[in-house]
Amino acid sequence: MATTTGLGILAPENAEKRVEILELLEHAYWMEVETVMSYIANSINPDGVRAQEIRESLEEDIQEELGHAQQYANRIKELDGVVPGSEQFKTEQPFLQPPDEQTDIVHVIKGVIEAETGAIEHYNRIIEVTDGVDWVTQDMVIEILRDEEGHRRLFQGFLREYEAEGKA
Ligand SMILES: [Fe+2]
Ligand SMILES: [Fe+2]
Repeated sequence: MATTTGLGILAPENAEKRVEILELLEHAYWMEVETVMSYIANSINPDGVRAQEIRESLEEDIQEELGHAQQYANRIKELDGVVPGSEQFKTEQPFLQPPDEQTDIVHVIKGVIEAETGAIEHYNRIIEVTDGVDWVTQDMVIEILRDEEGHRRLFQGFLREYEAEGKA
């Protein structure tokens, strides 16, 4: 139908694709919301001189991840979806729960790397699924992906320091 093809993801013939993208966006939204919770806790719990750098870094990330959640929520609405309510939330970050000892910084660093890695994998998938059919979502997610790659690289650097000392 040439008359609606120009509407891209909003075209009636792309309704099924839109539902698929909405599901992926909802998952991304929850990932960001859970990351905000995890980063709040981990920007406050860690003890010790060297924990300070990690705490400050996570404190900065909270705002960025919250912004990502809001971007995903907005895109859900733009695609005619409804931003889900809190009752639909399911936890997926066992690796970012508080460690037994609050001086266990390596636990936090590894948890952050795992969270960022999971986000990177999911966002790469959205970029692939939206290719050629939903440029706006794809463009938005590419930008968010860059933030997550930056976060992951930063924490990999932190981990390298501990590994060099034989503490990770
Ligand atoms: Fe994020
Ligand atoms: Fe991130």
